[in-house]
Amino acid sequence: MKIAVFAGDGIGPEVTAQALRVLDALPIKVSLIEGDVGGVAYKRHGLPLPAETLVAAREADAILFGAVGDFDCDHLERHLRPEQAILGLRSELGLFANLRPAKVFPGMEGHSALKPEIAGAIDLLIVRELNGDVYFGEKGTRTTAQGLREGYDIMSYDEGEVRRIAIAGFEAARKRRGKLCSVDKANVLETSQLWRDVVIETHADYADVELSHMYVDNAAMQLVKSPGQFDVVVTGNLFGDILSDQASMCVGSIGLLASASLGERKTAYGTFGLYEPIHGSAPDIAGKGIANPMATILSLAELLRHSLGEEQQAARIEAAVAAALADGVLGGDLGGTANCSEIGDAVLTRL
Ligand code: IPM
Ligand code: MG
Repeated sequence: MKIAVFAGDGIGPEVTAQALRVLDALPIKVSLIEGDVGGVAYKRHGLPLPAETLVAAREADAILFGAVGDFDCDHLERHLRPEQAILGLRSELGLFANLRPAKVFPGMEGHSALKPEIAGAIDLLIVRELNGDVYFGEKGTRTTAQGLREGYDIMSYDEGEVRRIAIAGFEAARKRRGKLCSVDKANVLETSQLWRDVVIETHADYADVELSHMYVDNAAMQLVKSPGQFDVVVTGNLFGDILSDQASMCVGSIGLLASASLGERKTAYGTFGLYEPIHGSAPDIAGKGIANPMATILSLAELLRHSLGEEQQAARIEAAVAAALADGVLGGDLGGTANCSEIGDAVLTRL
């Protein structure tokens, strides 16, 4: 089993190091190959996603990814910015289905931005499309007839792209509580109308799943009003980006949310995928050793589950994180004092 480790920028290396300690403690043999991504890759190689990193990614069964983003690089042309590393990996590797589970750990209800009784009911999965939408449409700046500067980003989805993510959503719902809510903006956007039509067509093969539709503005409201109503939410790239950050605060901290990005490629042990915390590089706290590594440790659990077929080890890690939280091992993101390596220690002890 081969894992490519791309720690990236900011707190990426700190949180990834703790996840690797956890991996090292498991009774499975894996080989690791490291690669540069993001601002650090730009500084070393002149590109945020160097060719050798992409080669390492393709040779692995799975990728463990830290974070990218570096203020030093914000002035660069877009194709040189750190974020292009993650966007490039997602598109080059065909990782179109981004699974972002959000669940309140027992005893953590009080840490949510919501009332505890509302937060306690959260157990949802956002299935975010990752290879299309305004993220990858034609974009640029131009001058209008009036001589004004104008920026544009084209939003589009073809039916094939919608169908495959709809299938991912229905399949996920089947394995959970059998409910799928498709989020769009079909009252305004043509892209969304096509999205809705294709989701309805795909439903014909999934009659056992209860399908509903919601406009994204309402979904944002419902997510704080009564998040317990959601099981699986399937949505496009941009809406999914926004709603998943929102879901993290409903749970309590973005430092707790893992993600899996999957495509069609199978490995000897499961499905090839990229695993990353949903948080970013947090440059404000980078290098201080105070970041919460739990989201990355939980991403490692997802990696073991989906790409390496190690469900039992995945469940062990999740239980160890839950136990650490229940014992009050909280990072600064949750108002606690445990630092990055102490949280790693606490998870290892409970493992
Ligand atoms: C995420 C991030 C990325 C995204 C950025 C870093 C490009 O916000 O994974 O949610 O927008 O997809
Ligand atoms: Mg995001």
